[in-house]
Amino acid sequence: MTSMIRSRLYPAIVAVLLLIIAGMTYKFIVTGSTGKTEDGRITILLEPGERDLMLKEMRAFVEGLQQISEALSKDDMKSVAKSARAMGTSRAHDVPLAMMSKLPLSFKKLAFSVHGGFDTIAMDADTIASPKHTLGQLSEILQNCVACHSSYQVKAITAK
Ligand code: HEC
Repeated sequence: MTSMIRSRLYPAIVAVLLLIIAGMTYKFIVTGSTGKTEDGRITILLEPGERDLMLKEMRAFVEGLQQISEALSKDDMKSVAKSARAMGTSRAHDVPLAMMSKLPLSFKKLAFSVHGGFDTIAMDADTIASPKHTLGQLSEILQNCVACHSSYQVKAITAK
């Protein structure tokens, strides 16, 4: 191979490799593993166990919201903080990396703002300790629950 050909070929190979890496990064971080539904929502395609994990976490949200409402009705801000903290960002680390790569970026953003919102509720319940303030924060979080449910669905697919 002449040095002339080599000097043209190598940059071309590097460029192709960079494109492949960029494509994989885009898929991994931005688009995830998705399809379309008839009702206009985006379907996230997960393995059955991953779908189970996601739905289990959703049901834990309802359980946590029940505990928070009950504690709020009793002005028990310590219990509010405890239940909210259990739904905070530390929970997001339970999601395996392979599953994380299947979630679209806007889905991850919504999920993190919900988890982060619960962290803030926990912190403010300990410091400000105002039920009305917490209720306002809960309503903001619930908007994110609503937004995500109106955009996404989850479907179990078995890996090929
Ligand atoms: C980042 C997106 C997202 C956020 C935020 C989110 N959910 Fe979900 N949730 C989903 C998806 C997707 C499903 C599956 C819906 C489907 O397949 O039709 C789901 C399903 C559920 C289910 C049904 C669980 C089951 O066993 O079938 C409940 C209950 C639920 N969510 C509650 C909540 C609550 C409460 C919040 C807010 C605190 C919340 N979710 C926030 C995406 C989200």
